[in-house]
Amino acid sequence: MTISSPRLWYTLLANLPLAIAIRQPHYILRIASENITVACRTRLSAVVNGTVPGPAIYLKENQTTWVRVYNDLLHDNTTMFVAPYSDGTPQASQWLIKAQNFFDYELRPEIGAAGSSFYHFHVGFQAVTASGPLIVEEADGEVPYDYDEDRMISFSELFNNTDKAVEDALTAPLKRLQVNGNGFPALLGNETDAFGKLPDNAPPSSSNDTCHPEIIQVEPNKTYRFRAIGGVALSPLVFTLEDHRNLTIVAADSYYTQPASTDIIQMGGGQRYDFLLRTKTEDELKVLGKTDFWVQIESRYREENSTFYALLSYTSNQSASAAPSSPPGQHPVSIPYSLQDWMEYTLEPLNQMGFQALIK
Ligand SMILES: *[C@@H]1O[C@H](CO)[C@@H](O)[C@H](O)[C@H]1NC(C)=O
Ligand SMILES: *[C@@H]1O[C@H](CO)[C@@H](O)[C@H](O)[C@H]1NC(C)=O
Ligand SMILES: *[C@@H]1O[C@H](CO)[C@@H](O)[C@H](O)[C@H]1NC(C)=O
Ligand SMILES: *[C@@H]1O[C@H](CO)[C@@H](O)[C@H](O)[C@H]1NC(C)=O
Ligand SMILES: *[C@@H]1O[C@H](CO)[C@@H](O)[C@H](O)[C@H]1NC(C)=O
Ligand SMILES: *[C@@H]1O[C@H](CO)[C@@H](O)[C@H](O)[C@H]1NC(C)=O
Ligand SMILES: *[C@@H]1O[C@H](CO)[C@@H](O)[C@H](O)[C@H]1NC(C)=O
Ligand SMILES: *[C@@H]1O[C@H](CO)[C@@H](O)[C@H](O)[C@H]1NC(C)=O
Ligand SMILES: *[C@@H]1O[C@H](CO)[C@@H](O)[C@H](O)[C@H]1NC(C)=O
Ligand SMILES: *[C@@H]1O[C@H](CO)[C@@H](O)[C@H](O)[C@H]1NC(C)=O
Ligand SMILES: *[C@@H]1O[C@H](CO)[C@@H](O)[C@H](O)[C@H]1NC(C)=O
Repeated sequence: MTISSPRLWYTLLANLPLAIAIRQPHYILRIASENITVACRTRLSAVVNGTVPGPAIYLKENQTTWVRVYNDLLHDNTTMFVAPYSDGTPQASQWLIKAQNFFDYELRPEIGAAGSSFYHFHVGFQAVTASGPLIVEEADGEVPYDYDEDRMISFSELFNNTDKAVEDALTAPLKRLQVNGNGFPALLGNETDAFGKLPDNAPPSSSNDTCHPEIIQVEPNKTYRFRAIGGVALSPLVFTLEDHRNLTIVAADSYYTQPASTDIIQMGGGQRYDFLLRTKTEDELKVLGKTDFWVQIESRYREENSTFYALLSYTSNQSASAAPSSPPGQHPVSIPYSLQDWMEYTLEPLNQMGFQALIK
């Protein structure tokens, strides 16, 4: 992932005041250290534009997009990793963005680069929270698969420790895998280095908008392109959707694949899978007698076997307060532990040219 690509298009423009005067960046990202609440616990984290994940950036093939990054951290240097355009290895492939400074990235994806990816920030363990989706769209708008809408499933980790402590010993117990910044079930008591805003063993407050499973809203009888992004550093994971067991993989790591049907998706750090999901019809929902389904996520090969949840909801305008405040009594789906041969010899490139040797 961190191989420096010859297709490196970023340019330092900071010392070109004229360019700045005549053009405005397409995107502005601000990285800062803030107390944010996830899984009902407050934690000091490096965040992009105040949220986890940060805002999605959309690039287009064969078109230059200019992203200005402000480092609002008080002390720490940072760099942005936007594979394959900039791996941002501090001082190896780019200057550090020092605290209280900014840097301009010019990103120009080549034809064929369309797909789902993510950006994240170095240095240290900021990547855990300071990241966001990076979507590259086709230059000609010709997408090889038909679908109605997209949905993001962006995975990240929540640790029972400060970034500093996790960095010092890459062994901190994983506490939650988050989907789009929401961890569920909630962390109870004072497990984290949180500032103890909730009393010990307080039940997750369902009225608290930071205290619920991520709700992925869908409508009946539609095809969705899910962009699953493994923005995790240390935790391999598997996930599946209750009563929705036909996931059609159409892209892996930003390369379109032949359609491949699966009921489970396994991901490691940095991996991405795009899959199509045909939602239930109204009639099928009536037969099932429900409109909310669990997205079941399990960690793998860590010091604890943990299960986390998000919600696929057909309830229109499902509000956080109406979402379940506790996880299901038993796992809705049983997922095999070892998936060593998952999709082995199954995924094939969509195009004749195959998966390019280039890493992207
Ligand atoms: C990030 O926040 C800044 C202001 O703090 C805003 O100008 C910018 O548009 C935001 N970026 C995105 C991608 O939403
Ligand atoms: C985070 O919260 C702690 C405890 O309330 C406080 O001391 C600290 O100043 C806060 N930091 C920021 C950046 O808001
Ligand atoms: C890519 O963009 C350049 C102009 O920047 C244009 O000349 C060229 O035709 C474009 N290539 C494709 C395949 O669209
Ligand atoms: C930031 O990077 C500079 C080198 O460019 C280094 O001298 C400084 O100590 C770094 N700051 C921190 C807080 O690591
Ligand atoms: C955590 O909870 C225990 C027992 O409830 C209490 O003794 C301890 O002081 C708490 N620690 C912090 C840091 O709040
Ligand atoms: C969380 O980390 C603290 C040390 O930072 C430790 O004392 C505590 O036992 C840990 N809690 C859990 C649930 O792992
Ligand atoms: C949710 O809980 C967090 C932590 O206790 C608190 O900071 C936040 O203000 C609460 N939000 C709402 C909407 O009640
Ligand atoms: C589902 O959508 C398809 C078109 O995508 C339509 O032909 C079909 O009638 C719809 N079925 C129901 C039950 O609404
Ligand atoms: C799974 O979905 C694909 C595309 O949505 C469809 O072609 C295929 O027939 C489905 N397979 C099953 C077993 O339902
Ligand atoms: C997790 O579950 C697997 C399969 O049941 C087991 O082999 C492994 O020891 C478990 N790991 C932990 C840390 O409990
Ligand atoms: C859902 O919310 C949107 C915007 O808030 C509103 O326009 C729409 O009428 C709501 N739909 C329902 C079914 O309540």
